[in-house]
Amino acid sequence: MDNLFERASSFLELFFRESESIGLQDRLDEVKWSIESTGTYIHSKEELEFGSRVAWRNSNRCIGRLFWKSLQVIDNRGLTKTTDIAKALANHLDIAWNNGKIKPVISIFKPFMPDSPTNVSIWNPQLISYAGYENEDKTITGDRRNVEFTQFCKKLGWQGRQTPFDILPWVIQAGHEPPALFPLPPPSLHEVDICHPAFSWFRELGLKWYAIPVISNMTLEIGGLLYKAAPFNGWYMGTEIGARNLADESRYNQLPNIARRMGLQIDRKNFMWRDRALLELNEAVLYSFKKSGVRMVDHHTASEQFMRFNEEEQRCGREVMADWSWIVPPLSGNTMEVFHEEWNNKVIAPNFYYQLPPWKKSNAEEKERASKCPFSEMGL
Ligand code: ARG
Repeated sequence: MDNLFERASSFLELFFRESESIGLQDRLDEVKWSIESTGTYIHSKEELEFGSRVAWRNSNRCIGRLFWKSLQVIDNRGLTKTTDIAKALANHLDIAWNNGKIKPVISIFKPFMPDSPTNVSIWNPQLISYAGYENEDKTITGDRRNVEFTQFCKKLGWQGRQTPFDILPWVIQAGHEPPALFPLPPPSLHEVDICHPAFSWFRELGLKWYAIPVISNMTLEIGGLLYKAAPFNGWYMGTEIGARNLADESRYNQLPNIARRMGLQIDRKNFMWRDRALLELNEAVLYSFKKSGVRMVDHHTASEQFMRFNEEEQRCGREVMADWSWIVPPLSGNTMEVFHEEWNNKVIAPNFYYQLPPWKKSNAEEKERASKCPFSEMGL
């Protein structure tokens, strides 16, 4: 199924059907002609907008899909210079921030063409993220998940301050130029200090998190075109930060600190110290975001919203595809309706796919892939 026209036509059929437009056959003829003469075709603004929203609707791992129709699409396909791209990313953050009432936004750059001199690539896994440093004694300062990317930024000449919450710079590549570094503009950065409604010592842990998760390492595929630079954001669900980012041993590993401050015994006899600490950390995250006026959803509400999304989709005659292990929140799973449901986990188009981290690609690999079908990287 790596035929571009086949993919284009099934997308266009979907678009014309769902948007109740006329003129499908003319559009198909035009696209066919374009693919035959130029090797590719160009999405109209409406197709791009619809395709992005449906890619969100089809994201099997996302619990927040009730809001798929509200995705704001920014068309940045005309930008080719890294400085312009960096400005566009800052603009994305400012629009998404919306004074704390975070809006779902996607910025779409040129679609990928093998060997094209105008390809755009954003190397950061997220537009906002914290550096991770491996210390001499093998301990980690910062976010362990970003250690490799941080090393890579340092190789490009970036210098971190070595705090646990250093914001990583943007690494942007245009065409065949080497990647360029841009610091995140301070006015576009919003963070929340984590404190607890009852434990005044919680603040002393010095924890914080950024307000907007903007995923920038996934390829958006619409009708066979690959938008490799298409960063998108929603708002956070509390458990992403409280049960994973700050809690996982492979991330900020804060549960032992919190348990100690709570006066809990950390040993086999009191084997539930982690659970108690986890609950307080999650309470603190939700409380702090609310207090700062930054939009965040709790896992119970998100679960209800996902069930509503399921009802709406059923009403439209569409089957919801979902990955149970990602949909069920990582805290108190069984207390939510989603835990007791089952879904088909089939991946349908349009959709978002993981990319190989660009700093891991050797040139040889890159060349080989470029000469092959561009879908091979996505396992399609
Ligand atoms: N889990 C990721 C993080 O903690 C973000 C994934 C996207 N999340 C979202 N609410 N849109 O940074």
